[in-house]
This record gives sequence, C-alpha cells and structure tokens, in this order.
Amino acid sequence: MLAAQFSSFGRPDAVIELVEQPDPGEPGPGEVTIDAELFPINPADLLNLEGRYGAEQPALPMIPGAEGVGRVAAAGAGVSHLKPGERVLLPGPGTWRARFKTSAKAVFALPGGVDPKQLAMLRVNPPTAWLMLHEYVAPKRGQWVIQNAANSGVGHCLIRFAREDGAKTVNVVRRAELADDLRAFGADVVLTDGPDLDARVRDAIGGGALPLAIDAVGGSATQRLARCLDDGGTVVNYGALSGEACMLDVRETIFRDVSLRGFWLRRWFMQTPPEKIAALYRDLAARLGDGRLAVEVEAVYPIRRIKEALAHAARGGRKGKILVSFDAA
Ligand SMILES: NC(=O)c1ccc[n+]([C@@H]2O[C@H](COP(=O)([O-])OP(=O)(O)OC[C@H]3O[C@@H](n4cnc5c(N)ncnc54)[C@H](OP(=O)(O)O)[C@@H]3O)[C@@H](O)[C@H]2O)c1
Repeated sequence: MLAAQFSSFGRPDAVIELVEQPDPGEPGPGEVTIDAELFPINPADLLNLEGRYGAEQPALPMIPGAEGVGRVAAAGAGVSHLKPGERVLLPGPGTWRARFKTSAKAVFALPGGVDPKQLAMLRVNPPTAWLMLHEYVAPKRGQWVIQNAANSGVGHCLIRFAREDGAKTVNVVRRAELADDLRAFGADVVLTDGPDLDARVRDAIGGGALPLAIDAVGGSATQRLARCLDDGGTVVNYGALSGEACMLDVRETIFRDVSLRGFWLRRWFMQTPPEKIAALYRDLAARLGDGRLAVEVEAVYPIRRIKEALAHAARGGRKGKILVSFDAA
C-alpha cells in the first residue's frame, strides 16, 4: 500500500517521500476498509511538514493529512450502514495513504452525485468556517463579520454561511485583482489589507454593527482587524499565515474591550460528541450537493507527483486548492 510520509522536518517538497506500507488487511467485525481517492494539501499540512504545527512536535516518521475522500472497499460483519463502493470521508489524521481499516462507527456514507473533489475538502474548512461564525458571537441578520485571507477555502465557506444567515461580509485580501471574483461569489465588501483598513471599513459599512473578526494571518493583521470592530467585539484567530504571533494593542483590549479567542478544529473534535459531529457533516455535505459550498481547485496531481503538488501548494497567489489523487497512482 502506497503512503506519503516524512521522517524529518523541512521544506515540504524536499522531506516528503513515497513509501510502501503493509496493507491493513480485511475488515474485522464492525470495521470497514476504505480505498483513498483524493486529498487536498492544506496550509496546516505544510506547517506540519516544516515542524511548525500544533502545541507539540509529532513523533516521526509520520503520514500527514487531515482529510480526503475515498470509497468503502469492504465492510466487516455487523456493518449495515455502509456498502462497498459508497463514498466516505477518510479517517484522519494521517490521510495521505492508499487504504484504511477503521471502526465503521465513525464513518458515514456521503451523498451520491457530489463532485469528489469537493467532498475531499469537506472535513476541515467548511466546519471551521461554520463554527467560527456560530460559536463565538454569531452576527445577527444585517450585522457584519470581517475576515482576512478571504479568498482562502475557509474564507469562501464563511462568505456562503454568512449570506445564509443574512449577515454581511467584509473580505480582506492581499491582492486587489481578487475583488470581482469574490463579489461574484457573494462577498459584500472586498478590501485590500493596509494600515488605513479601519477607516475604509467604516466607510464601506456605514453605521453597521461589526461584532466579529475572523483572522487567519496573525501578526499586525490581527490588530488591523481588531481596530475595525465595535467596542466589545471579538477576534477569532485560527491561522498564522504571516508566521507571526497575533498583535493586539491595549487601545483595543483595555479601552474598547475587544477580546481575542483562538479556534482549533481538532480541539472541537476532542470536545464534541460523535453524534453532533456527524450531524454537522451531514448538514455540510448537503450544502456541497446543491453547489452552495463549492471551492475552486487549481490542480489535481497524481500521488506519484506529490513533491510537485507540495511545491505548488506552498506558492502564494493560487486560484484554488491543490488536490492529490490516488486514482492515477
Ligand atoms: N484552526 C483551525 O482549526 C483551522 C482549520 C482550517 C484552516 N485553518 C487555517 O486557515 C487558513 C486558511 O486555510 P485554507 O485551507 O482555507 O487556505 P487556502 O485555501 O490554501 O488559501 C491560502 C490563503 O492564505 C493566504 N495567505 C498565504 N500567506 C499569507 C500571508 N502571509 N498573509 C496573508 N494571506 C496569506 C492566501 O492568499 P493569496 O491567494 O494571496 O496567496 C490564500 O488566501 C490557514 O492558516 C489554515 O492553517 C485553521
């Protein structure tokens, strides 16, 4: 069985290697085996390979990957809710491998007729956007939410969810040429980041309420978002794309009661009952089915070209996600 793994931290395309691993074998009672089809390369995967992800360094060698999609290969005795051939999410972490054997309890059949590329990106970014929008200070109908890295996978999902709630989005990007596409996707306001961001945001939203900021960048970008918020507002930080610690001035924290929270999906998984997790995924999968959550894909690489895929994913200025396929292996 083919897998991608790394044995030392470093530049992702340099340290990744393809290895043959023992096949997991036939499923036992209550188990299923799954053949992987596709997985995306996320910023967290790149950080993981560089040794810059999580509270502690993982043990090596490690098979990276937090998500992906595949088909049930075989179901063991007593498994009635899954049939061979049905599409399912890959059980993570460690999804960059061709075959899995896992307890059937945590696996559910995905809806048919949905683009598998979109299903491959279901596990991480859609729930991240959904939970950040709803579990801190959910903006009410007519209120605003501001986010940076707004053209990212998470950013696209957040635009869609906010629209469904009747809330409006201010979308901060670092490339002005993205504005038309994002507006066509449903963004209400698109602005490039910069020192005068708060003044431009106030102009754009008039007297609208802005209680929530979603920050993927960290560093001084956190402070720029915080300055845009109403007094008592909340910044939810969920990424460090700048590679820097979040900055937050006392003008915001002390004098305007702005607070900074952190979001990590894996923590939510650890703290949430499995039925609630499955219910959220069913709901999100249904949105994929009707096209409401589609995220652009820039390229799909066969697993044999994983090094090129990683180099491509690490480049800025992409039009969409980079996926890796086992089908063409
Ligand atoms: N905490 C969690 O549980 C959790 C869950 C999911 C994702 N995340 C985080 O969410 C962020 C977005 O992930 P994704 O998969 O949605 O991303 P993605 O689709 O791969 O897109 C990457 C985005 O990052 C932007 N970017 C890269 N470097 C930047 C920088 N230095 N300053 C500003 N923007 C920068 C890119 O802008 P350009 O297009 O201009 O290059 C692009 O918008 C990542 O930080 C990821 O780690 C966190």
